[in-house]
Amino acid sequence: MHDFGVGILGTGIYLPEKTLTNADLEKMMDTSDDWITRRTGMKKRHLLDDDKPACTMGVEAAKQAIRDANITPDDIDLIIVTTETPDYLSPSMSCLIQKHIHANKAAAFDINAACTGFVYAMTIAQQFIETGYYRFVLIVSNEGLSRIIDWKDRNTSILFGDAAGAVVVGRVKKGYGIRKSYLASFGDLGHNLTIPCCYVSEEDRQKRRKEMERTLWQDGSEVFTFAIRAMTDATRRVVEAEGKTMEDVALVVPHQANLRIINGAAKRLHLSDDKIAVILQDTGNISSASIPVALNFSDKKGLLKKGDIIVMVAFGGGLTCGAALLVWGK
Ligand code: ACO
Repeated sequence: MHDFGVGILGTGIYLPEKTLTNADLEKMMDTSDDWITRRTGMKKRHLLDDDKPACTMGVEAAKQAIRDANITPDDIDLIIVTTETPDYLSPSMSCLIQKHIHANKAAAFDINAACTGFVYAMTIAQQFIETGYYRFVLIVSNEGLSRIIDWKDRNTSILFGDAAGAVVVGRVKKGYGIRKSYLASFGDLGHNLTIPCCYVSEEDRQKRRKEMERTLWQDGSEVFTFAIRAMTDATRRVVEAEGKTMEDVALVVPHQANLRIINGAAKRLHLSDDKIAVILQDTGNISSASIPVALNFSDKKGLLKKGDIIVMVAFGGGLTCGAALLVWGK
């Protein structure tokens, strides 16, 4: 056993200045503020200017997280980026960020577990630090979803926004930090949410408008049903594995895909509203950046107290899901 825990030492975010409100969307397509608010809880999203690479968001979030952790870029041993919208397949987003923040000693790789990416990355970072292989791991969840949306498809375009969230993970006092995690994948359900990249099948083409072959398509109601079940199950698993009950949990930080999904899971878990971090009214679905951005907001509001039990839980494309229970030790 180790004489230390592995936890979050610093957080940072970047939300582009430009916003897109429900009223703006009303002017672009056949939709209404009332429909979007009732069906999703969303009011606005942030959009990155088209002429900027998405990694510029991650660079800013990373710099903040490093400052917040009171370390320097040279202290970073590894950078893990979670993204569904890499600027390039090569160089990876993590290498682009490594260059821009001058993390001269860091190894770097990207992972893609869609919206569950941050929970996966936390668990990967934990393994490297627990074994003593690395001391400081920077995770950057860097998502420019506006770039893979068909803006004429009202079923999906209203849901997504751009953002980056970053954390520095390192040693904390024993008993604090990540205590339990659970990661899962359901590849047989993957066809319910697809974003073609280097290959486009006939089925992919049929689901999309012409020349929109590489945009995000989803079966909203299939994903919706999966999401409530997966978030409820993943949360229960980590709480029970830690020998705790939902009463012991101070805050659940869920992936921000739809307020009705969050409320559906909360109802099944008997969780009151004050124990759930919700930011989607201001951000929309920002994929894997949801959890680190919501964590940062909660930290700034003073909602995270040392010793609090926090559960981070997500689901997403793949399909994937996961949860991590941590004792806040920052
Ligand atoms: N404005 C107005 N009407 C709309 C809109 C819109 N923007 N979009 C759809 N509608 C209409 C539909 O056409 C339909 O009309 P019809 O009954 O005449 O056919 C009606 O509203 C109801 O549509 P539903 O699809 O049944 O609406 P639902 O209540 O299921 O909400 C939604 C749709 C918001 C997409 C929901 O299913 C959802 O949130 N699903 C989960 C999505 C999700 O979490 N994805 C994860 C992404 S994670 C990642 O990895 C990127």
